[in-house]
Amino acid sequence: MMKLFSGTANPPLTQEVAKILKIPVAQSEVVRFGNSEVRVKINEKVKNDECFILQTTANPTDTNLMELFFFCDALRRQEAKKVVGILPYFGYARQDIQHRPGECVSVNVIIHFLETIGFAKIYTVNLHDEATEGVFAIPFKNISALPLLADTIRSYLSTDSKNLTNLVSVVSPDQGGIERAREFEDELLNNGEHSSDIPLVVIEKRRHLNKIHKSEALALYGNVKGKIVVIVDDMITSGGTLINAAQLCLNAGASKVIAAVVHHDFADNIKDKLQNSPIEKFFMTNSIALKEDQKFPKLVEISIAPLIAQEISNLE
Ligand code: R5P
Repeated sequence: MMKLFSGTANPPLTQEVAKILKIPVAQSEVVRFGNSEVRVKINEKVKNDECFILQTTANPTDTNLMELFFFCDALRRQEAKKVVGILPYFGYARQDIQHRPGECVSVNVIIHFLETIGFAKIYTVNLHDEATEGVFAIPFKNISALPLLADTIRSYLSTDSKNLTNLVSVVSPDQGGIERAREFEDELLNNGEHSSDIPLVVIEKRRHLNKIHKSEALALYGNVKGKIVVIVDDMITSGGTLINAAQLCLNAGASKVIAAVVHHDFADNIKDKLQNSPIEKFFMTNSIALKEDQKFPKLVEISIAPLIAQEISNLE
């Protein structure tokens, strides 16, 4: 039998997945003590069951990670046949190399924990850098939400792929995002088929490693004059990358800018900055639960529940 458990980081997403799969969310309880320790308890029989635990590991990242680890331990102690982790947002994925001497490579540590605790397989959505997949010694799948974002933006612009080719420029806001922007462009303009003859626009970004959340958009390579620009990124935290890139595109003659971003891993108090920015709309997924005070009119959320439900059905 298959069972789907929910961590406390994004229960509405688990509910949506369960509804699509026509199953109830499995019973568990998570208790937080006054000293910030957490205790997880499985409240139904799982012996010989295939158990999925959906827990997004966004802010508060460490707390959500510990809860995920404890779910796996509790399920294995109850003799679940296997435990599969679904981390729609994979916290620490950006800390994937030593950016400066002396730094830890945090994502590798998290992956080692997941393996050691006993997960049989891990799913995530648009992992920051696909190369990180090579660190996993257990099966791993990186689901892409870019087709979903591309479909939504195509409807928003109310035109078909053919017309969009002349109207739109797809922009990567940094050097590291070129492959992602290319995948998105193929989805938007060519329904997923490779369309390499259409040039991407790339922004050269400089991150100030000694300052938190500080980056600059230095130069723009490509043509955006008179075009609707779609900036594609995997996540927004401070908003700096997106807003600097948008400004550079508008200075270079873009007619308007919209953003296609997978994860809203928002830093505190950035909604006014995003709402008042020159970006017309932010198309993002619900990989991370939004708090009421993080919502703003320009934000359009698209659900990834169908993608996750599909993967669970395939694995069953
Ligand atoms: C960086 O490599 C990522 O892909 C994002 O561009 C970045 O982390 C976004 O962060 P922020 O919104 O703070 O600029």
